[in-house]
Amino acid sequence: MADADFDLLVIGGGIAGNSAAIRAADNGLSVAVVTKTEKAADSNTYNAQGGIVYKAVDDKPALLINDILVAGAGASLPQAARITANEGPEIVEKMLLDEAPVDFDRDKSGEFDRTEEAAHSKRRILHKTDITGRYIEQALIKRTKELPNIKLFTNCTLVDLLTNHHHVDNPLSCYEDNRCLGAYVLDNSSSVVKIITAKATMLATGGLGQIYLHTTNPTVATGEGLAAAYRAQTEIINMEYVQFHPTTLAVSGADSFLISESVRGEGAVLIDYDKKPFMKRYHHLESLAPRDIVARAIHSEMTEHHWPYVYLDIASYMKPDEIRKRFPTIWEKCKKHGIDCAYEPIPVVPAAHFSCGGVRTDLYGRTTVSGLYAVGEVACTGLHGANRLASTSMLEGLVFGYRAADDITKRVKNRSAGDIPSIRPWSYTGSGSIDNALIFQDFITLKYIMWNYVGLIRNSHRLGRAINDLRHLWQETEEFYRNAHLTREIVELRGAIQTGLIIARAAWQNPTSRGCHFRKD
Ligand code: SIN
Repeated sequence: MADADFDLLVIGGGIAGNSAAIRAADNGLSVAVVTKTEKAADSNTYNAQGGIVYKAVDDKPALLINDILVAGAGASLPQAARITANEGPEIVEKMLLDEAPVDFDRDKSGEFDRTEEAAHSKRRILHKTDITGRYIEQALIKRTKELPNIKLFTNCTLVDLLTNHHHVDNPLSCYEDNRCLGAYVLDNSSSVVKIITAKATMLATGGLGQIYLHTTNPTVATGEGLAAAYRAQTEIINMEYVQFHPTTLAVSGADSFLISESVRGEGAVLIDYDKKPFMKRYHHLESLAPRDIVARAIHSEMTEHHWPYVYLDIASYMKPDEIRKRFPTIWEKCKKHGIDCAYEPIPVVPAAHFSCGGVRTDLYGRTTVSGLYAVGEVACTGLHGANRLASTSMLEGLVFGYRAADDITKRVKNRSAGDIPSIRPWSYTGSGSIDNALIFQDFITLKYIMWNYVGLIRNSHRLGRAINDLRHLWQETEEFYRNAHLTREIVELRGAIQTGLIIARAAWQNPTSRGCHFRKD
């Protein structure tokens, strides 16, 4: 018996999940949105600095399509790029200028102050100083809360996706096609596992950067959505393509704070430890080369010369007051750590940033399991191929969230979803208390394995070692999970290890270097 039943269950509250929820609610569906934290705003969207791709004054979809395909290193799906470029500007207008308006920066004439980032042929990115994602997230959450047919379940962690192959008592259900029926969701504060059923379930759980030692992602980005999809037997693709952002603040205690690519878009140049530009040796676009190339160039300079970091120099290219006005958050963060970036270069290193692969979807967000949709970073529409073009992640979440919501609306209105059979109640078998020291240590072990063996530079020896170590860690954790009283932390750890294994296996199986998957063997 379900605790709650909806037309659409959205798991995750970033741009993809919220825009899908809003669109579906506007279409008349009843919608549940589940978020892992209380504030509903802890997401990669909230932390995004650079901006969202819109269109340049003299832009054409063909130009953006070409930029996406070039950045994707030959592995981006052209149809996904065409949909994003053709439909993106209109959906940005409908959702972020009309329905959940965001006050993007404008120039004195009232025209949008578009910025540039690496590998874009035009200035086409809308931004709000250097905290664009925060404004977008706040506008979407405000709208989500206004709509009476959306119910928010905050502080709840996804435990498992419900399928008729795994969670239904009827022994005949295994003869039907696998179908997603909703989710088991842990209420983090009461430790009760709720059953939420829905005609369609949408994974919008975002990224997985926290499985790496150094990452730009917030603490919620632990990958358990992807792991749940794997257990539900959806197809998962391109997981070897984990993108590393070239520039995060290299100061102890700064938690890999992102130094937005738009800093380079506004003219900043990468310089080495001796303060000399070095990117010319790696790419004709120099500091604005595609991300994978810049990240590896920095890594290679650092390892060759045993430097702890390189520098990013904006002070030589913008006036101090312009820097403080355009990048107030970056300036302030650097200042807090003793660096005045209006006058001196910023020490930077790469960090794990974005998963280009994910749950395979078609161009409507449908996965290979009926009734299950995936949108945003957890999904793989094929748009990003082997390396994502800057500021396309929020656009992808928005466009495909919107398209998926319309597809789900048709499905619900046609009554093609099928009835929900009776779901097995959650069995509270584990009663052992959790030793947090073990969880902490296992997570740290995972982070080191991923960083050292499945990081920027890979080879079969490192990857084989990672798979063995992760398997061992997985076995230990499964036992721990089965016997423990369920908490958010144990669910996250279990999902994170599973996700690490998926990435390590994908990287090991693919001997060809492409985009952000670089094999040195
Ligand atoms: C950045 O501001 O550099 C991040 C933008 C992105 O990852 O698209």
